[in-house]
Amino acid sequence: MSRPKVFVSRVIPNDGLDLVRSGCEADVWPDGLPPSRGEVLKRVRGADGVLCMLSDPIDAEVMDAAGPGLKVISSYAVGFDNIDVAEATRRGILVTNTPGVLTEATADLAFALLMAAARRIPEGIDNVRKGLWKTWGPMTLRGHDVYGATLGIVGLGRIGSAMARRALGFDMDVLYFNRGVPRDDVLPKGVSRCETLNDLLDRSDFVSLHVPHTPDTHHLIDRNALDRMKRTAILINTARGAVVNTDALVEALSDGAIAGAALDVTDPEPLPAGHPLVLLGNCLVVPHIGSASYSTRARMAVMAAENLLAGLAGKRPANLVNPEVLS
Ligand code: DGY
Repeated sequence: MSRPKVFVSRVIPNDGLDLVRSGCEADVWPDGLPPSRGEVLKRVRGADGVLCMLSDPIDAEVMDAAGPGLKVISSYAVGFDNIDVAEATRRGILVTNTPGVLTEATADLAFALLMAAARRIPEGIDNVRKGLWKTWGPMTLRGHDVYGATLGIVGLGRIGSAMARRALGFDMDVLYFNRGVPRDDVLPKGVSRCETLNDLLDRSDFVSLHVPHTPDTHHLIDRNALDRMKRTAILINTARGAVVNTDALVEALSDGAIAGAALDVTDPEPLPAGHPLVLLGNCLVVPHIGSASYSTRARMAVMAAENLLAGLAGKRPANLVNPEVLS
């Protein structure tokens, strides 16, 4: 019997890639940069499955190019706003993601960004590298206290909750805003609920975003939201770039409406080198590395591979985004 044909849009850790190769004829895009749109459309032709990255837009055109045999789209990410899930569902295609395994790594990075922005660590490193460290300075690189400060978490799901646990360990006061009631198993003791986003924005010294990007959360943090924040506050985004209105953020950082921002995700992504967010001294940007630890990326690879193989074998994948396909 011929093995299923799959397109894997980037080299992923061997833990997962070997699994995919053990069960499929895999065409693996070999470059570090994503395949062009044209290349994706060509390579998915006749595929039974696609293992994609968050940087690959997977829409009706890609599904058409793959043809009617496409059964599974397995995303190597927890977020899936790059995939037209409604269209996949309409066509009976399973969509899967990698929840849970990247929670702690992403919260680690979010907290690292909070600390780095609060205590101006990148500026300190830059100064030392440029030979500007001439003496101990009583006024040099003063930043914001983390201990005792108030952290506002927007979206208390798995990652938001893991962020809250870290903040509680640093004796921060933790507020959260969540549209629904958070699940008991992710609700840490000692966090306080805000009834409205504005209430959270008014009261927080740090605001950390942990919501998925959906039509409801698109530009959730706009100029009005930024104006609600304290002038001394710092915004942290490890969720998705488009949850924040980039132009509004550039303005707010430039005119002092907020003190700073620390971003793992941006809109657009990647940011061009000369982009204002890259150039502004009070904005710290890292290149979407929330889940980038060796073990986390390996676990994501295994999970994405297992989801793919289960779907191709006609079984229910463990991490199905659109279970309605099976009903
Ligand atoms: C995700 O999985 O959605 C993260 O943004 C990258 O790992």
